[in-house]
Amino acid sequence: MRVKGEGPTPCRYMVVGEGPGWEEDRSGRPFVGKTGKELNRFLDGVNLPHRSECFVTNLYREYRGKDYEYTEDDLRRDTPELESELERVKPELVITLGRHSSRWFLGEVEMEACHAVGWHDPRAASRTIFPIFHAAAA
Ligand code: URA
Repeated sequence: MRVKGEGPTPCRYMVVGEGPGWEEDRSGRPFVGKTGKELNRFLDGVNLPHRSECFVTNLYREYRGKDYEYTEDDLRRDTPELESELERVKPELVITLGRHSSRWFLGEVEMEACHAVGWHDPRAASRTIFPIFHAAAA
């Protein structure tokens, strides 16, 4: 099923992952599976905001299998939903998890070079993008 973002709206913080996994697909909620637990550890309310203070969402909205590589068609279909969440949520800080969502915001960046550094969002100067390695890879 399609998995939408969830969390307070508006909200200062937004987390953008790649796409739902099997457990997210079954529950219809983002980051509820194993990777979600890992994310909750990161979002400890100390170095980063607590999960309850974040709107949590994904770049892609549908689970297509474990090793599926998302395509340009997936991007065209799913990003209008992310754009409308950005408009509603109005985050000041967007934590992007991994290469896919980091690149959607920042262009052709390498994670090694941009991890854990705050960047101006080229689409919205008032927004900071904070890329970190994806919880699934960490
Ligand atoms: N679950 C999600 O919702 N997104 C990811 O990127 C990984 C797991």
